[in-house]
Amino acid sequence: MDRHILFSGTSHQTFAAELASYLGVTLGKILFEPFPDGEIYLQIQENVRGRDVFVVQSIARDPNYYLMELLIMIDALKRASAKSIVAVIPYFGYSRQDRKDKPRVPISAKLVADLLATAGATRVLTMDLHAGQIQGFFDVPVDNLYARPILADCVARLQLKDLVIMAPDLGAIKIARAYSNQLHAEFAVMDKRRVSTEEVSITSIIGSDVKGRDVLLVDDLCSTAGTLCTAAETCRKAGAKRIYAAFTHGLLVGEAVKKLGQAPIEKIFMCNTVPLLEEQAHEKFEVVSSAPLFGEAIRCIISADSISSIFN
Ligand code: R5P
Repeated sequence: MDRHILFSGTSHQTFAAELASYLGVTLGKILFEPFPDGEIYLQIQENVRGRDVFVVQSIARDPNYYLMELLIMIDALKRASAKSIVAVIPYFGYSRQDRKDKPRVPISAKLVADLLATAGATRVLTMDLHAGQIQGFFDVPVDNLYARPILADCVARLQLKDLVIMAPDLGAIKIARAYSNQLHAEFAVMDKRRVSTEEVSITSIIGSDVKGRDVLLVDDLCSTAGTLCTAAETCRKAGAKRIYAAFTHGLLVGEAVKKLGQAPIEKIFMCNTVPLLEEQAHEKFEVVSSAPLFGEAIRCIISADSISSIFN
């Protein structure tokens, strides 16, 4: 990676370190020295003139701060004459606000896309965008990786018989279908309505019957865990035998870990796109690293190979 260099912001340094180790490189040095009033100040401490740069930052945990830090890193790299700047964003925050579903609301996902391009990002590499069509918000290329192959591999090891893949809402149907293809299982979907930011109501299950069968709930992300816990409870009431869950992004805000601990879910698989805090560890959780997938994608970008070939 002589012509290439990898940097990390401060949002998910363990992920960046794992990625660097997978690629066999050391992370480029950046001095982070916020101003006393809270403004971000940083200095890139490597020569990046004419080099292809990858900069890793998850927009999670403190999304406003880390988004701004990412924009400022990209700006500094652009002004230091980097040849190209790939924003490597394991979790793309603000991606849920991707349409005007009420009057006078923002489309924040589009705004963030514009901000990244304006700062100087020439490509974005991310994972499981909340909706694939968000790629169209960008005027630069976007590579959207899927966590499903690695999460489904873990589920396959459980050798569950007569499994039903369950989408907890209509938005998760595509993911559920992909799991169902990989695991050769039937799938069903739930009719979910959001009551508040923390509460959802599920009125019915459409598709395969779950009575006496194992169920795998799949989603792109788990935030307050309202969706997963309500979905698990609905499956239990419908007679499911054992319930498992798999999702890509574990935002796990507020009481989410406690709620998941109490929910009728045996085991929960998630990726490491968002840092799991020490106090959030739970015996039900199995965290699967997506760093090797990002590493392979970076290799493909460098060698101009097809990224979809990783998944074949
Ligand atoms: C919704 O469209 C998403 O795919 C997730 O189902 C949702 O954001 C999860 O949020 P929570 O865990 O707060 O219910």
